[in-house]
Amino acid sequence: MTDPTSAVRDRALALPSTELPAYLYDLAALREHAETVRAALPARVELYYAAKANPDPEILAALAPYVDGYEVSSGGELTHVHEAVPGHPLAFGGPGKTPREITTALELGVRRFHVESAYELRMLAELTARTVPDARVAVLLRFNLPVPDGSLENSSLAMGGRPTPFGLDPAEADETVRLLTDGTFPQLDLVGIHAHLASGLEAAEQLAVAESVVGWATGLADRHGFRLAEVNVGGGMTVDYAEPQRRFDWAAYGKGLGELADAHPHLTIRIEPGRALTAYCGWYATEVLDVKNSHGEEFAVVRGGTHHLRTPATKGHDQPCSVLPVDDWPHPWPRSAARRDLVTLTGQLCTPKDVLARQVPAAGLRAGDRVAFSLAGAYAWNISHHEFLMHPRPGFHYLGTEGRG
Ligand SMILES: Cc1ncc(COP(=O)(O)O)c(C=O)c1O
Repeated sequence: MTDPTSAVRDRALALPSTELPAYLYDLAALREHAETVRAALPARVELYYAAKANPDPEILAALAPYVDGYEVSSGGELTHVHEAVPGHPLAFGGPGKTPREITTALELGVRRFHVESAYELRMLAELTARTVPDARVAVLLRFNLPVPDGSLENSSLAMGGRPTPFGLDPAEADETVRLLTDGTFPQLDLVGIHAHLASGLEAAEQLAVAESVVGWATGLADRHGFRLAEVNVGGGMTVDYAEPQRRFDWAAYGKGLGELADAHPHLTIRIEPGRALTAYCGWYATEVLDVKNSHGEEFAVVRGGTHHLRTPATKGHDQPCSVLPVDDWPHPWPRSAARRDLVTLTGQLCTPKDVLARQVPAAGLRAGDRVAFSLAGAYAWNISHHEFLMHPRPGFHYLGTEGRG
């Protein structure tokens, strides 16, 4: 799913230039991938999709048959996901929840919160009493836990295991658990622990983290005598942008989680991946506008750029891509073309940071050829700075929906 699927290739070539750039999502490929992920996980392990990776309503709906729910991290995501996939369980996480966001969540029926601090816990208790006085609300305390030595070393984005604003410090665990078990907050049920410690981890590293989180949570529950019903070990399964063919080893991860679940028969283990579910189903297709040589290096400027697809600039990687040659040339002026084998693909922004991929093997690349950037289904459009320079927005196309109601 790295080279464009035939549906994506056909659409990328069929769209008129004026309708490029475009995000092309292959929903059939997404469903197939999600089905494989679900099948690799033991039945007892719950799969929530972290909507922040790509909250596009079509994506959320395509995932619905394969996930147990959605993790949302803001009031905006919460109302959006609630409308896009009504009736599916939501867990409300994320730092800095406002009173209004919590109230909205309670009004919309959200009954599972990942609580980030003791302050937030008190706020949740008070707002629950005021908004839904007869309801019970499940609380998972999010902790920034110490991690096994070296297990986050390869992470591209560590949120735990070191000082960060995420979750509670483990030193606060006993006092916070006491508040939830001594009747102080009668509507809040402490059901478990949440820990999303890093993104970009391989299966073995994820398992080490999961084992250590479950071990820590079990110790806490035993010490305080509360029933540990749920542990959410977060997302962060790696997507390798440098070697896009390489995939997170879901089979090994599922097997390891199965063993962990067997060792804790009364515990629901939950994961909440984002990028590893949706990155592979999206392509950003565009057209080469010009090709030029500068101080001995070849540059191709494409329609659009990092204001639509910010991932390569933020992560400092080259976005994997495929060239789709176009032989038709409708203009009376000659096409510009690469004279060297390696070409750097840049966008239309007036900044040297607007680089989508460096030194791509693309001998002979011409103005008018098309390029499809893969792995653009997660943290792509929705994390980008769309308004900068006021270029037109891309189109959005959902493929693989034929024959589905
Ligand atoms: C709390 C939480 N859960 C899940 C995720 C999803 O991470 P990823 O997309 O790397 O799987 C994130 C990402 O930041 C997160 O903050």
